[in-house]
Amino acid sequence: MLKIGAITVDPPLVLAPMAGVTDRDFRLIVRRIGGVGLVSMEFISSRALTDKRARAKTLELMHFVDEERPLAIQIYGADVDTMAEAARMVEELGPDICDINMGCPANKVLKGCAGAALMGDLDLAERMIAAVRRVLTIPLTVKFRLGLNDSARTYLELGRICEANGVDAVAMHARTAKQMFRGAAEWPEIARLKETLAIPVLGNGDIKSADDALRMMHETGCDGVLVGRAATKNPWIFSQIAARMADRAEAEPSMTDRRDLILTHFRLIAGREPSKHALHKLRKFTGWYTHGLPHGATLRRQINDLPDVETFLAAVEKFFEDALARDAA
Ligand SMILES: Cc1cc2nc3c(=O)[nH]c(=O)nc-3n(C[C@H](O)[C@H](O)[C@H](O)COP(=O)(O)O)c2cc1C
Repeated sequence: MLKIGAITVDPPLVLAPMAGVTDRDFRLIVRRIGGVGLVSMEFISSRALTDKRARAKTLELMHFVDEERPLAIQIYGADVDTMAEAARMVEELGPDICDINMGCPANKVLKGCAGAALMGDLDLAERMIAAVRRVLTIPLTVKFRLGLNDSARTYLELGRICEANGVDAVAMHARTAKQMFRGAAEWPEIARLKETLAIPVLGNGDIKSADDALRMMHETGCDGVLVGRAATKNPWIFSQIAARMADRAEAEPSMTDRRDLILTHFRLIAGREPSKHALHKLRKFTGWYTHGLPHGATLRRQINDLPDVETFLAAVEKFFEDALARDAA
């Protein structure tokens, strides 16, 4: 059983943090389907959180409900004191776990020396981890990559620093920052990290199916896995992995399951976001959710021209009505 500090993560399956994706609506959807042991929030800028003018908007992003628990809030930044202050504020919000991002490869984040840039400055990374650890009483995790690039693979050193400074678990996306999402994640490196550390190691990168998740755990010995992109196309993936781990058959969602999920998710979005943002999110998720479905491409083309949320929802309902009628015929 995976324990991160005092928090039980059962099953040891984690929804990976994804900016613009793992907002409260999506986390709830994944949680309601089941099979997920821990959900992660989109990363939060420590600077925005500690800045009086940006704070209100950031706190709004950080809203969560008990139904999502256990939940991790991830923060990023380059300044030790700002990160410690942000961590203190995170703890006040009451999540189960605080996570530090040391893996983001986006130029905007790297330039500020945050995210994966910290893998190139292990002294700064250590001071940051120690400072955040000092202010927190809840479990602390760190998520990182292999390193900045192939000639600077610092993940074993960073893992040791985490362990020596009271970090409760680490997660590694087995690519370098330079690779972004190119090439294949190097799972043997997850095995090396696991062999090196005594604290739990979570593996991440390229899990597309329940088979992949079981294979990663088997091949690397990792204590749990994070699933990111595959969950956007298939939010049932956690329940499918959990079923396989318990030696149960893995169920494929029916067309009715899909319709119910999409419409529930979309109504959550439509009820909360201003309509322009809602439309943007609805388009993005329709693209993912209808990937590989018969006639999905027709719906995806059609939704580009829909003017508002109501017509959008009507189009999605019609798509599923037609699909279910075809299935019944
Ligand atoms: C759209 C998107 C946004 C992401 N945002 C974050 C983030 O905020 N914090 C983070 O640590 N990783 C972020 N990631 C990386 C994922 O958490 C994960 O490490 C990566 O996608 C590899 O896992 P996968 O192959 O299962 O997708 C993001 C990835 C994507 C695709």
